[in-house]
Parts: sequence; C-alpha cells; structure tokens
Amino acid sequence: MEINEAIATRRSIKKFKPEPVPADALDRALSAGLWAPNHHLTQPWRFTVLGPQSHHALAAANADIQLETAGGDAASRASAESRFLSKPRIVVVTYRLAADAEGRREDFAATCCAIQNIQLAAWGMGLGMQWSSNNMTRHPRTYKLLGIDPAAEEIAAFLYFGYPAEIPAPRPRKGLDEVRRSLP
Ligand SMILES: Cc1cc2nc3c(=O)[nH]c(=O)nc-3n(C[C@H](O)[C@H](O)[C@H](O)COP(=O)(O)O)c2cc1C
Repeated sequence: MEINEAIATRRSIKKFKPEPVPADALDRALSAGLWAPNHHLTQPWRFTVLGPQSHHALAAANADIQLETAGGDAASRASAESRFLSKPRIVVVTYRLAADAEGRREDFAATCCAIQNIQLAAWGMGLGMQWSSNNMTRHPRTYKLLGIDPAAEEIAAFLYFGYPAEIPAPRPRKGLDEVRRSLP
C-alpha cells in the first residue's frame, strides 16, 4: 500500500475478528517502530507483548478498575472483561524515563512516532490497531502485574491488534485552511 493511502485510510479498529495475529506480522509492524525519529537516538520505546496469561490477568484487573471508577454491577464487570479479552493481541508500549523533563518530553514524542509507524505498517498488512490510553495505562496495578518499574519506565499506550471485523467511517477533520497560518 502506498504511504499516503495508508495514512488516509487507516482507522482505529475496535471490533476484531477472533483470528489470531501471526507473530511474524506483529514483529514486522513493531519493527517499523524502530525506525521512528528520536532525538539523540535514545530509542526509548519498549514493547511488551502479552501472552494469554498476562492478557487474562490484565482483563480481570481492567474490569475491577472500571467497576471501582465508573461503578456498575457483575454484568458490567463481565462485559468489560470480555471486551478486553476480545482484543486478539495486546502490546504495551513503554518508554524509558530520562532523568530530565525535556528528555522525557522528547522521548514520549518519539514513542508516539513509533506507535504511528507501527499502526501504519500494520494497516498496510491488513491488520487493524487501536491506540488506547485508558485509565488502566496509568494504574499502579497494571505496572505491578506487568512487572514494569514505574521509576524506570512509563506506559505510553496499550495497542490492541487484530484483523478488523468492522472499519469505521472516518470522522470529519478540519481542513488545512482551518489549521494553517501563513506568514509573509
Ligand atoms: C494519544 C492517543 C490516545 C488515544 N487513546 C484512545 C483511547 O483510550 N481509546 C480510544 O478509543 N481511542 C484512543 N485513541 C484513538 C483516537 O480516538 C482515534 O485516533 C480518533 O478517534 C480518530 O480516529 P481514527 O484513528 O480512526 O482516525 C487515541 C489516540 C491517541 C493519539
């Protein structure tokens, strides 16, 4: 797929077919992240690919946390858990924390560039992805469960991968004329 076509046609995918994501396709998509621009070549990103055990544990924790924060009953808890389990493959993207605020800002930016490379590469292979920054990504229980030291790395996103069951229509965007300022 031509790059401009991938940029324009990619959509965030929330509903996936149940079929698994082949490991080599996932690795190809993640490898695209390695070529993202990053200042001082810090290469701050780390990718934690969840297997069935950690996926199930995180789904249960996610359901508990949604219940604690948003309220609900056993049925809503079960539905949050099964929604999380319906993501065929989850990758947790973290970045190593620089000592200074400027370094952290740049490394977060670089990690977001890596995520965009990853989702475009995935899209080019017919794989869908959703970038999630829900409250689970900041919860201490998530860090503990995944064995991530919050003093050393911060979670930038959960990436949900799978073959799209549904591709949403694009929502309208501002036109270039609305966001471009031209100076003499
Ligand atoms: C930093 C960041 C965080 C995001 N977090 C979420 C999220 O928590 N849940 C979600 O449904 N989508 C999330 N998204 C995806 C956006 O909602 C999505 O890109 C937007 O709705 C436009 O849709 P499109 O990607 O299909 O063009 C996130 C995107 C970015 C860049």
